[in-house]
Amino acid sequence: MKIILSGYMGSGKTAVGNELSQVTGLRFLDLDEEISRREGRNIPEIFKTSGEIYFRKKESEVLQELINSSEDLVLSLGGGTPCYGKNLQLLQEDYEVKLIYLKTSLEELTDRLFKEMEQRPLISHLDNRELLEDFIRKHLFERTYYYNQSDKIITTDGKTVKQVAGE
Ligand code: S3P
Repeated sequence: MKIILSGYMGSGKTAVGNELSQVTGLRFLDLDEEISRREGRNIPEIFKTSGEIYFRKKESEVLQELINSSEDLVLSLGGGTPCYGKNLQLLQEDYEVKLIYLKTSLEELTDRLFKEMEQRPLISHLDNRELLEDFIRKHLFERTYYYNQSDKIITTDGKTVKQVAGE
């Protein structure tokens, strides 16, 4: 089985993935980290020097490779992964995949992301909290359609990483 965590930036995919890996004994992989490792540069650098379209192409390639591997694992996606190309279809048609959406409120996401905007290329240019909140609201509106097609939806507001992983 592959437990795959989806959700907006800041929803806790990596933290919950790490916890789930410890509980289940399955290897944990983070899709962004896999892409960075293979490219030899971090995600902001990839966006800056090669652009988002290049990143999306790599994201789909690495996802496809990991899904096709026979290894059971816990995998956290990037916030945009299910929303591009055939990624969602790929995740849905594999019966080994259990796709889980970590659903976090706009308020909580804004609070969390406001503290760490610099490392995130899609929001690093926004220079105040109101602009960030507007951006996330619109983005969530577009992306929720994809996120909602997961096998399971778990809300995260007010819960610890352990509680979310437990659910
Ligand atoms: C993105 C989210 C990021 C990373 C890239 C694009 C997005 O991952 O893949 O910056 O489109 O929402 P996290 O959700 O792990 O921050």
